Amino acid sequence: MTLATPTRDAMKLALNGGTPVRTEPLPWELPGAHWIGAEERALVDQVLQARSPFRYYGLDAQHMVDTFEKEWRDAYGHKFALGVSSGTAALSIAMSALELGPGDEVLVPGYLWVSCVSAIVRCGAIPKLVDVDSTFCLDPDDLARKIGSHSRAVLCVHMSGVPGRLDEIQAVCKANGLALIEDCAQTAGASFKGLPVGRHGDIGIFSFQLNKNMTCGEGGMVVCEDEKLYRRIVALHDLGYARTPAGRLDTSDPNVQLWGQGARMSELAGALGLAQARKLPQITGAMRRAKWRIREALEGTPGLSFRRVPDPAGDTGPFLLMTLPDAAQADFFVSALRAEGIAGPAGSLACLTMREWGMHWYFNIPSLVHKRSNSRDGFPWSHPANQFAENYEYTQGALPVCDDLHTRSVLLTIASTLSDQDILDIIEAMRKVAPELKA
Ligand SMILES: Cc1ncc(COP(=O)(O)O)c(C=O)c1O
Repeated sequence: MTLATPTRDAMKLALNGGTPVRTEPLPWELPGAHWIGAEERALVDQVLQARSPFRYYGLDAQHMVDTFEKEWRDAYGHKFALGVSSGTAALSIAMSALELGPGDEVLVPGYLWVSCVSAIVRCGAIPKLVDVDSTFCLDPDDLARKIGSHSRAVLCVHMSGVPGRLDEIQAVCKANGLALIEDCAQTAGASFKGLPVGRHGDIGIFSFQLNKNMTCGEGGMVVCEDEKLYRRIVALHDLGYARTPAGRLDTSDPNVQLWGQGARMSELAGALGLAQARKLPQITGAMRRAKWRIREALEGTPGLSFRRVPDPAGDTGPFLLMTLPDAAQADFFVSALRAEGIAGPAGSLACLTMREWGMHWYFNIPSLVHKRSNSRDGFPWSHPANQFAENYEYTQGALPVCDDLHTRSVLLTIASTLSDQDILDIIEAMRKVAPELKA
């Protein structure tokens, strides 16, 4: 299929009364949800038929979470993988597994998700902001500059489907003796220079919430390569203790007498996750192909620059991020594209300025900006061991590159079920609108 030659009316922007490129909404983002089908139903039904929704024991346990973990390890080469109840829980578990707490700071990028900061603060440590670069991920140069005497770990967040300069980030961590946690919540199935995400640091975490590359409604995975760490992770995700082979609590090992988070994965989530994980390469393959087809068709357009992707082969493709010369042109670009029909159904998020991207930006997280606490004593900000961070600021202005990208970038979600025609319409709409941009 090729692009049709436009008529004069079709050339006029829909924003100015011309004919829109399309009127049908694009499909919802929500990559995995579109693929839920007979395979998911069969496995979930198996759990229900067996009346055994708990992973550790039951009337007739089906071991869905076990199988999900095993297939995840096999697919991505992890030594250890543990299903948990969410990505947020996975982050908290990772922090505690590494024994982070008061007196420690964890370096995080300013383009992230609220859960990243929440996990650091709830474990009693202090988040230290690091700028991003044109990859929209941690800038390893700024990371090196921000390391201080209290720095203990780096939370490297692979944002919007693809890692940034991961090898350089890893090198900075190694050179400075910092633990590296990879937040792969938005990059299930991604890799960097041939190695799957989650294997570049000490611990990796994934999320299987509805917006992610695959979903089990709510769920996550924690991966690591070290057995001692894994035993802590297992205890922390449960009740703080190990379990016997029969699935009963085992309080005998002094190394795993901890405080658990109650974040086990249910067999229902495990069944759904297992079926989705088997489809993950197809889901990400579809998004990656569509995204790069659109991007390549528009490469070189004056006024439009694309996010730097250091390793396109490892991209999972759910977002196309573009940067415009200024905020006014970003606003114009998005309004004009929406008018051309580049929009999803009501309630979905297909095409937006990144100023509309909420708590993905550090200064849009009120509890961070105002250093809120879950307890009356102001913990962890008030903890004596955290006095070093007294003057840390989280208001806009702390990270110049983040602030700049936030102001003038736009985001197009790439649904996992875009048809050929959908892709052509997106390209056509962007080509129609782009000449109005000022480079
Ligand atoms: C980067 C990042 N980290 C962590 C999370 C938390 O995952 P969940 O929603 O499963 O708790 C998310 C998802 O919302 C995320 O995007």
